[in-house]
Amino acid sequence: MKNFISVNDVANIDALVQKALFYKQQPLADIALGANKKIGLLFLNPSLRTRISTQLAAKNLGMEAIVFNVDKEGWALEFAVGAVMNGTTVEHVKDAAPVLGSYFDILCIRTFPSLQNRDEDYAETIIHQFMQYAGVPVVSLESATLHPLQSLADIITIKEDLVKRSSIVKPKIVLSWAPHIKPLPQCVANSFAQWVNAWGEADFVIAHPEGYALDDQFTGGASITNNQSEALQGADYVYVKNWSAYHDYGAMPAPHTDWMLTNTKLAQSNNAKVMHCLPVRRNVELSDDILDSENSLVTLQGGNRVWAAQAVIGEILRGA
Ligand code: CP
Repeated sequence: MKNFISVNDVANIDALVQKALFYKQQPLADIALGANKKIGLLFLNPSLRTRISTQLAAKNLGMEAIVFNVDKEGWALEFAVGAVMNGTTVEHVKDAAPVLGSYFDILCIRTFPSLQNRDEDYAETIIHQFMQYAGVPVVSLESATLHPLQSLADIITIKEDLVKRSSIVKPKIVLSWAPHIKPLPQCVANSFAQWVNAWGEADFVIAHPEGYALDDQFTGGASITNNQSEALQGADYVYVKNWSAYHDYGAMPAPHTDWMLTNTKLAQSNNAKVMHCLPVRRNVELSDDILDSENSLVTLQGGNRVWAAQAVIGEILRGA
């Protein structure tokens, strides 16, 4: 693996999941792999899980991890080609990225979309420029359109849980849109759809209100419905997530507060386990009664972020 930007960088999803589960059992098995190597974690946006889990993963592989909060502590970066930099930006990515590449063996970046200009966001300008100019492998810690480390952790979590549910031959997985107070990126939903489709071991349904259709380059292969109740029937896993509109880009066509998942709604499912990437707004996106129940997998998902990151960084270190 040279970079990790999307599921398309993964040759074998099952092998990567198995590697992650191996690291969960034996975290220090490859501690010599990253000896004397450094990984840089650049954050242009806030994070709890991604930041700490990636640091822990790197440490388990013997690497030194350095976190840099570009948004708070760095020079304001410019990404526009040919920009006349007489405004607020101070340093061009063309200049910053090669320097960072000279410091680190692997460079990891988190950046969010603007939600203002769909073409720019979906071109993934920021992460692609780091890939172009850094000269070292780049790992996405969430980009404008995708969150692959989260999705890998999500598949790991489902695989791990399925071992305890031997009666399920092919799980029904539902990605269910949730209400929110402000427009959020489509990254987690796009990425989860892309990974579940590529994994190919589930009946996959996406449920959202009208106006919230995702980009079909990621959803292809899923059944799509505007009827949440119909989607929940017989579901084994329900992944709850808000996203803003893709077509009327960044808009929130209507609040749809009735789309919040509750235990009453979940009664139609096959005792479904409920997932969310966190952070979650309780009693807006998901009810307390679900989050505090045994059906919630959110803590397991967050914990599995370490093993997902470790499996990916390990592959890059091996040049596999
Ligand atoms: N799920 C996730 O990426 O969490 P953080 O934003 O806290 O990193």
